Amino acid sequence: DIGNAGDSLGVEVFVVGGFVRDLMLERPIEDVDVVVEGDGITFARYFASMHHCRLHQHLKFNTAVIIFEDGFKVDVASARLEYYATPAALPVVENSSIKMDLARRDFTINTLAISLNTETFGTLIDYFGGGRDIKDKIIRIIHNLSFIEDPTRIFRAIKFSNRFGFRIGKVTANLIANALSVGAVKHLSGLRVLSELKQIFGEDNPLPALETMADYGLDKVIHHELKLTDATCALFESVGKTLAWHDLLYSDDVYPRWAVYFMAWLHGYTVKVSTQIADRLMFPLKERELLLEQRIKAEQSIRLIEKSYPVSNQQMYWWLIYFKTESLLFMLALTKNESVRKGISHFYTHQRKIQPLIGGKEIKSVGIKPGPVYSRILNKIIDEKLDGKLNTMEQEIEFAR
Ligand code: CTP
Repeated sequence: DIGNAGDSLGVEVFVVGGFVRDLMLERPIEDVDVVVEGDGITFARYFASMHHCRLHQHLKFNTAVIIFEDGFKVDVASARLEYYATPAALPVVENSSIKMDLARRDFTINTLAISLNTETFGTLIDYFGGGRDIKDKIIRIIHNLSFIEDPTRIFRAIKFSNRFGFRIGKVTANLIANALSVGAVKHLSGLRVLSELKQIFGEDNPLPALETMADYGLDKVIHHELKLTDATCALFESVGKTLAWHDLLYSDDVYPRWAVYFMAWLHGYTVKVSTQIADRLMFPLKERELLLEQRIKAEQSIRLIEKSYPVSNQQMYWWLIYFKTESLLFMLALTKNESVRKGISHFYTHQRKIQPLIGGKEIKSVGIKPGPVYSRILNKIIDEKLDGKLNTMEQEIEFAR
């Protein structure tokens, strides 16, 4: 349909980048990026009106997002048409504007395009050897200044290399080292580094990426005290197992996957160093709380639980209930004590969602005056429920009385 719309408007339309790469790698496809040789906004408006889609336009960048009814999104960008005068002084369209668009990208594996117009439908466009590099499993930049122009690409190289199990090409690796030696990442804003780190830590198994980062000395650029130890590697593996366990629960709890790895990364560093890292990375307030307070509380609590184990259901509940999912998962990964791990996972799967069935209204109905006593009653009800008692509302009301 996209190709047909291109035909109708007389513009060439291509699907580009990650979509084509993932198609060749036979990996699940998430986003669809389309480049129009011409005005992408006009194209997107036309397509959206034909197919009853919603549209977000970014006029400044000549881009738009087409949003289908089921939420599926297509990003549309414009490849500027370049006009050159011919000897006859007639302007002709330089029809390789798609080439220029692709040439601006980071790695060869991201420069593939497929034509969508009817006549050329399905034709693979590969100006920079991306197809060969996918086959050879290699990450290569397109031009030598790539990392200087955009140092976030250093993190992207590591992310893709880790995700696909590709190696970073020799010249590319040297250019990364070069860019680092001239301080390219040092001058990068904290927010941009943070965004890249979140993506790396959000991948299935970020440990190899962390090792590559350490090989390049990227961790030291973020904070000079950061050092990849065997203990961190072991903790990352433990986080991996914990998250795999959590995935199998099909729990509807959503949590930021990256955050668990982030806590593991900074485990063992002092409050001072952690604060400096949070400052350097311009952590937003909420995430800062997670990184500093929740992580340190989690570390303290796990030590306490290990020391006191076995503990009652109630003790475990009141120790753990105020932790966010990501912190609980971090604690599960952190403990080496199998019984403690079982205790925390039991809390997570069976006790965390326990709530009284009654509320203030019911407590009032038995003639108790509102006040702090209400929360004491509700907490006591939870204590009883943790032992499998008080299964009905009537029982809870009776208990309150
Ligand atoms: N790109 C780039 N330099 C960057 C970021 C992006 O050249 N610093 C280019 C890439 O070539 C990429 C395109 O912009 O193909 C879109 O970026 P993004 O959506 O981040 O890339 P994906 O390849 O889709 O990455 P992911 O699979 O992680 O979403």
